[in-house]
Amino acid sequence: MPAVGRGFIVCIAVVVPALLVRALAAPDSVAQGRDKFVQCAACHGSDGRSTVIPQYPKIAGQSGPYVINALKAYRDGRRQGTYAAIMTAVAKPLSDDDIANLAAYIESLDTVQ
Ligand code: HEC
Repeated sequence: MPAVGRGFIVCIAVVVPALLVRALAAPDSVAQGRDKFVQCAACHGSDGRSTVIPQYPKIAGQSGPYVINALKAYRDGRRQGTYAAIMTAVAKPLSDDDIANLAAYIESLDTVQ
């Protein structure tokens, strides 16, 4: 077998399982995030779009990395102000895993109308 062919097979052998692991891990994270989102719905709406008051942001479909940064910044007191204080209280008890799962769920909401 030519060297290029072997390289291709090695590549497939490494990449395909890695993609499968990603595909299997993602829905689990989204499902756990959905469970956790119950406590967020009071202010951000169960769909992440219908806020209780206009000062509360719509967050459905926001990018995962942005949500992770935002929640960690609230939790660590790096985002401040009257409304940020509300989120600091919410984010304090969240673990890094909780935040990752919530971010996965929030990001997934852009496909839900
Ligand atoms: C008591 C009301 C309340 C609850 C409950 C709440 N939030 Fe918030 N959330 C807010 C407010 C108010 C802001 C805007 C804060 C600011 O001005 O920085 C906000 C901001 C955010 C932001 C930043 C949005 C942006 O565009 O930067 C994210 C992300 C977020 N919330 C996620 C969550 C998640 C996830 C939960 C549940 C774990 C949650 N929130 C629960 C009121 C709430």
